Amino acid sequence: MSASARKNRITAPQLKARKGGEPIVSLTAYSAPMASFLDPYTDVFIVGDSVGMVLYGLDSTLGVSLEMMIGHGAAVVRGSERACVTVDMPFGSYQESPEQAFRNAARVMKETGCGAVKLEGGAEMAETVAFLTERGIPVMGHVGLMPQSVNRLGGYRARGREKAEAAAIIADARAISDAGAFSMVVEGVMETVGRDVTHAVQVPTIGIGASAQCDGQVLVTEDMTGMFSDFTPSFVRRYAELGAEIEKAAAAYAADVRARRFPRPENVFRPKPARGKKGG
Ligand code: KIV
Repeated sequence: MSASARKNRITAPQLKARKGGEPIVSLTAYSAPMASFLDPYTDVFIVGDSVGMVLYGLDSTLGVSLEMMIGHGAAVVRGSERACVTVDMPFGSYQESPEQAFRNAARVMKETGCGAVKLEGGAEMAETVAFLTERGIPVMGHVGLMPQSVNRLGGYRARGREKAEAAAIIADARAISDAGAFSMVVEGVMETVGRDVTHAVQVPTIGIGASAQCDGQVLVTEDMTGMFSDFTPSFVRRYAELGAEIEKAAAAYAADVRARRFPRPENVFRPKPARGKKGG
């Protein structure tokens, strides 16, 4: 990435300043080419640990490693020049102590060139958010449905149906905001909870399955483009059917290979015609 590309990137403080203003557009990205397609339209890329489920076929995000996040984060930074790149801290890389979180988050920042990290958790992570922020690492929070806690939560159902749970999510969001997070993802909550969290905190909320009143929205790109699975959660709108297009392309290619219609003369290397010798 050139120095001029770095200069033009949206920063965490710029995103923070958009509280209550122009909605923040966020998408996940895991690779350089996808990042370059999406970059002109996106304010913040989340290099989510969803990569484990979407690209690696894992059945939860728990098996994702720091090395995987660093590899994908660096690719997204290389493939983009405008959006702020925020890399997820994977399960087990930050929960133990603020010091562990700093050591691993600093590695992510150094080795990827990203602009921020994201971590899941509420009040119990506030000390860690403050520790990182005070030491120069912008942190995006993540409250509501937290996929890394799937075993404790017992599944992926929307959170905040009961009053007590709704109040706890709002308290978590406040704790993370007060600790210095520059923004937070609010995932899989009742619409009223998404709205109330947005009104309760000082920093932009980025909703996924939350509320249209959040300060921004994020979707998993492979969900939004029809590339991930046949099942589409109700909070996703599919803007394209790329999975079906890829299947069609593969079928056409296979038919051409089997019928010897591919490669064609223009697809093979042949010696250039010899140039006429000048007389001497
Ligand atoms: O891992 C992920 O893709 C996320 C998004 C839901 C933002 O955390």
